[in-house]
Amino acid sequence: MLVNLRDITAIAEQNNMAIGAFNSPSLESARAAIDTAEKLGYPVIIDHAQGHEEITPLDVMGPVLIALAERSTAPVCVHLDHCEDLSYMRRALEMGFNGAMFDGSFLPYERNCELGHRAAEMCHSFDCGLECELGSMGSREAGAKVEGGTAEEAGAIYTDPDQANEFIAATGCDILAVSFGTVHGLYKGEPHLCFDVLNQIRERTLTPLVMHGGSGVSDEDYAKAIDAGIRKINYFTYGSKAAGEAVTADLKNEEVPYYHKMTMTAYDAFCKDYEHVMKVFANGAKPIA
Ligand code: 13P
Repeated sequence: MLVNLRDITAIAEQNNMAIGAFNSPSLESARAAIDTAEKLGYPVIIDHAQGHEEITPLDVMGPVLIALAERSTAPVCVHLDHCEDLSYMRRALEMGFNGAMFDGSFLPYERNCELGHRAAEMCHSFDCGLECELGSMGSREAGAKVEGGTAEEAGAIYTDPDQANEFIAATGCDILAVSFGTVHGLYKGEPHLCFDVLNQIRERTLTPLVMHGGSGVSDEDYAKAIDAGIRKINYFTYGSKAAGEAVTADLKNEEVPYYHKMTMTAYDAFCKDYEHVMKVFANGAKPIA
């Protein structure tokens, strides 16, 4: 069933858990996220990133994601990830997306507030929740240019805890993406998360917080981040890597590399990876759906 971004993150808040937000540019990844959520009894967010337009266009993937969500027994939010363009956002809202992120993190602060506010007005007129980002993850997911490395190398700017409430009020966003050491893409070595920044943001605001660059983090750090108020974890790179590795290994045993078999192998690998992280993100909460 479709549950909008505000309501699904409210479930997370109530249960001191985070909801996995899985980028779903393929049928295998989308089905794996929803099927695993149903199996475990947890809510899930499936994401279409504007930067994935060239993999599967919004016009093709959007209606598929919505149809899968509508018929699911799990609470599912269909969310637009890292949208930099309000006309693209409107297309997703008209299609039935019930969560969206306006990413103005690369803009000057005032412009991020101004466009974030316009995005909020538009989203709320469609009963859709809005996520905005304060600070910057550095490398831009929206441009499909995923650099990875360390937060410093990616040019990340940590969220200023003293600015968080002012930014939330100025934009009217429902949830806030914060930068505290995670990066999009593959990590070089161990990620170093700055929990001090996260704790300070949490002390100053009641708004649910979002971790981007959420794959590749240790189970211990996920738990610490959730206990410090992270309610949505964006997850893509390491799930896609797991599926690709499974396909590569399987191909060694195949005389003929049938594509349909690769999709089944990928689906199984996504399910396995997502099951592990969804249990960690639940942070001890009992099944909800
Ligand atoms: P990863 O690259 O760590 O999977 O992060 C994905 C993400 O944050 C999408 O918005």
